[in-house]
Amino acid sequence: MALWGGRFTQGPDQRFKDFNDSLKFDYRMAIEDIEGSQAWAQALAQVGVLTAEECTRLEAALAELKAEAEQNLTAIATAGDEDIHSYVERRLIEKVGDLGKKLHTGRSRNDQVALDLKLWCAKAGARIAHSLTALERELITVAKAHVEDIFPGYTHLQRAQPVTFGHFVMAYAQMFERDYQRLQHALRLIKSSCPLGSAALAGTAYPIDRDSLAQALGFDEGSANSLDAVSDRDHVLELLSCAAISMMHLSRLSEDLIIYNSGEAHFVELSDAVTSGSSLMPQKKNPDALELIRGKCGRVCGALAGMLVTMKALPLAYDKDLQEDKERLFDAMDTWHDCLDMAALVFSGLKLRKEEAFKAAQGGYSNATELADYLVARGVPFREAHGIVGKAVLYAIEKNKALEDLSVDEFEQFHPSIGGDVYEALELHHLIHKRQVKGGTAPDAVRTQIAALEDKLASRA
Ligand code: ARG
Repeated sequence: MALWGGRFTQGPDQRFKDFNDSLKFDYRMAIEDIEGSQAWAQALAQVGVLTAEECTRLEAALAELKAEAEQNLTAIATAGDEDIHSYVERRLIEKVGDLGKKLHTGRSRNDQVALDLKLWCAKAGARIAHSLTALERELITVAKAHVEDIFPGYTHLQRAQPVTFGHFVMAYAQMFERDYQRLQHALRLIKSSCPLGSAALAGTAYPIDRDSLAQALGFDEGSANSLDAVSDRDHVLELLSCAAISMMHLSRLSEDLIIYNSGEAHFVELSDAVTSGSSLMPQKKNPDALELIRGKCGRVCGALAGMLVTMKALPLAYDKDLQEDKERLFDAMDTWHDCLDMAALVFSGLKLRKEEAFKAAQGGYSNATELADYLVARGVPFREAHGIVGKAVLYAIEKNKALEDLSVDEFEQFHPSIGGDVYEALELHHLIHKRQVKGGTAPDAVRTQIAALEDKLASRA
């Protein structure tokens, strides 16, 4: 049953219908459409468009429809209706007859779809928040186990200064915590205003208390401008942007672990559960889970770019272009969710190869800054110390030695104040424990960092 057709003398071309219909993807908003319809029935009853008895009957039929939808959501996709709104209305009329035809009074699919999508975004966002928290918890578990384990720290992908593996893992936990906070901001904004009652574009003609209606649906208030409300998709952009940023974090994490897991580094070992073999090369164990996460970042960033382009230059108010918001949003949110869960799975089976990591941290002259600090403690200005140590490193490279392998005599050539106590200063554990500052890599500082994040997570489901 089409929701329109009175002014048409011809039916749609099948090819146009296939092109235009959105039920095959917007069926995913069935529950939200029904919940919005229940609230709308009540609003219509309050202004006398429906009797209390009619409202009760409509609500009961809608509740039945909701239960059916919850049972088998995907079955709706192939029901043949133009979109989810047409589907719900047709099924309602099947259940309650002509009374069902009253529900659309004063409402348009334009405010209806705007509402449905906002409700969908709120639910999808809550699900993601849960996955972000679960990933953070997994990272904390891994970090706690490796607060003392030394790992090479990089800048420019050159070994720079040693850190602990716990510190490295917590860097990503902090990114995912920001993703969580960012998402919460977006969700708060989504729930601040409700578009229902904006009708097609000019506002409904019935004297509905839109603020009460909004509150019944979990929003703060009715939207302030009907033209804006029916064509606003900022919430889609905001969620996509949250998703894109978080996927970028997941992709960086994947890249780091892929490098650390490679034969060249081999500081970590991925579990068999998240790797796959090669059909040709029997020795291979490929980091597919991480590569897929890294790859899917492109897909989610593409959804954000695509939606921005769809919105650009869109005239007020509703235009059918807006129907293009859903598939990419649904796909991006599904992808984000799956990648968060997959990253948690990767971490749950990740092994640190402590000795290899320690050895790598020792190489690459990553304790050179310590030698400079040692000189500073003996009165040498830092810039001068930097130059002296640079020469010592060059000398050590020529001799194919680490800094700590140089003798005191050799060190003295570079500065007379270097004595036998230099070796302790160059020792990696010593170096790590010196970085006690807030946010530093010293085990105690990392423990403090972990405790602070655990506090934040404690109250979350
Ligand atoms: N399927 C449409 C969408 O997703 C629903 C709104 C249709 N409104 C209209 N005036 N044709 O945007």
